[in-house]
Amino acid sequence: MDIIVRDNYEKMSRYAAEIIAKCIKSKPDCVLGLATGGTPIGTYKELIRMHKQGLDFSQVKTFNLDEYLGAGIDLGKPYDLDQSYARFMYEELFKHINIKKENTHVPDGLSKEPEKFCQWYEDEIRKAGGVDIQLLGIGGDGHWAFNEPGSSLSSRTRIEPLTKQTLDDNYESFYKKAEIKREQMPHFAITMGIETILEARHVLMIANGKKKAKVIAKALEGPITSQITASAIQLYNGKATVVLDQDAASELKNIEHYRHVEKLKLDYKLGSVSLH
Ligand code: GLP
Repeated sequence: MDIIVRDNYEKMSRYAAEIIAKCIKSKPDCVLGLATGGTPIGTYKELIRMHKQGLDFSQVKTFNLDEYLGAGIDLGKPYDLDQSYARFMYEELFKHINIKKENTHVPDGLSKEPEKFCQWYEDEIRKAGGVDIQLLGIGGDGHWAFNEPGSSLSSRTRIEPLTKQTLDDNYESFYKKAEIKREQMPHFAITMGIETILEARHVLMIANGKKKAKVIAKALEGPITSQITASAIQLYNGKATVVLDQDAASELKNIEHYRHVEKLKLDYKLGSVSLH
């Protein structure tokens, strides 16, 4: 796992966006796994900026991690006060880039048969050839997507009840803006499972701010546990990159080692150190 620390949110976002852009350039029809929340907004802004300079999304496919059950929009149609992740993705990324609507997938929170939908979503990811890069944030309770504490580390896409902490956090950061009352916000979500996430070929986790410092330290340096589902990154056998700002990295015990490894890898790439 590469743990990269950048001075601030902007630099963290740029670093993450560059990884994604590199993937798109080397494989124009790549499959991106996308995340919501405040954290990836800067990464999406960077990708939009790169698109204006020519980054082409015309063949890119996307699969989002999760959606509130009972929320969703028909992309492109008028909507009022809709606080769905579908709307979030449309506003923060999709409407600004040349991605085809049919190539974007956000779990359907309005599905009449959500359980069947979960299986369909898994099948679609498989049919698309799997996810090349999965972007992830981390919830205050250590969740990935909506895999709340206690979720099996081998879970698949399913319906998950949200914890009180997630409801409180996400009410403040997401639902409150739409003047929806706390008790009106959805209490369940459709979420990719941990095993679904870990099937991606590259896992890219980002986090910023002091608020995330303790949970990041638990996820990266604590025991692997279903109580902090992001700790499953330690089990992951593919390429994993964690990009943090200084504040989110501030509780890591081995921070000096991660900096050393980053420098060593760069020196190796530049040819100033060798393996012998
Ligand atoms: C939600 C999403 C997660 C996200 C988390 C953190 O719960 N389901 O995928 O990582 O929010 O959000 P933020 O980036 O706003 O802290």
